[in-house]
Amino acid sequence: MISDSLLTRKTIRKYTSEPVDDLILHDILAKGCRASTTGNMQVYSIIITRDSVKKSELAPLHFNQKMVTEAPVVLTFCADFNRFNKWCLQRKADPGYDNFLSFVTAAIDALLVAQTLCIAAEARGLGICYLGTTTYMAHKIIEVLKLPKGVVPVTTIALGWPDENPEQVDRLPIEAVIHKETYHDYSDSDIDRYYKDKEGRSDSQQFVMENNKETLAQVFTDVRYKKEDNVAFSKILLQVLKDQYFMNQ
Ligand SMILES: Cc1cc2nc3c(=O)[nH]c(=O)nc-3n(C[C@H](O)[C@H](O)[C@H](O)COP(=O)(O)O)c2cc1C
Repeated sequence: MISDSLLTRKTIRKYTSEPVDDLILHDILAKGCRASTTGNMQVYSIIITRDSVKKSELAPLHFNQKMVTEAPVVLTFCADFNRFNKWCLQRKADPGYDNFLSFVTAAIDALLVAQTLCIAAEARGLGICYLGTTTYMAHKIIEVLKLPKGVVPVTTIALGWPDENPEQVDRLPIEAVIHKETYHDYSDSDIDRYYKDKEGRSDSQQFVMENNKETLAQVFTDVRYKKEDNVAFSKILLQVLKDQYFMNQ
């Protein structure tokens, strides 16, 4: 059952050289595209990359993460109002989608389709890995994939047959992320309690040591997701939204 496999799933970063058959790819794309979308507008597009030359053009834009060249299929999910705008204009309708809200709408659609496709892929035994580098390097990915105005890449998935069986990684306890009826803000002791297991894991402690840090949180703030990087990539992304006509009003 799919719902049980959701509890055992894990990200796969190493793939066999076996290709993903066209029929299988079509099946998971069709299932992904059954995801709910805003007003059923389907304001997203999916770029399929199988060509090794194209993959090697994309690889540096994903900071040379090896999954890009090693996975048989790379899928880039884009927020896309271009197609919908064209339909409106061809049908005497005046599109008002060159704004930030419309970008968020289209990004939500694209991400829901991406995640639905991932569930379908994993249910067939395929392995997937999201690439968050997509939004850092959106300006360059736009060039490589020839994305027109109105289209912004929001996430990428590397897809292939698993060639590894990693340990499942941890999650916070379910109570940590659930609020009953209204939000109950976290006390210091809630934070201590909810993060205790994560911080106590030997892989977390090794991570802290390897990075010469005092706490696991510092590995995130000082090494993995640093303020200076976040600020720089935010500026780039905001410029991309302007250039792609999503910030005109
Ligand atoms: C939006 C998003 C971006 C991600 N970006 C990357 C990435 O660039 N590289 C990578 O190796 N994993 C990436 N991941 C995978 C996460 O690291 C992984 O989902 C997380 O560690 C939990 O592991 P699990 O999926 O095996 O449960 C990303 C996941 C998401 C949802």
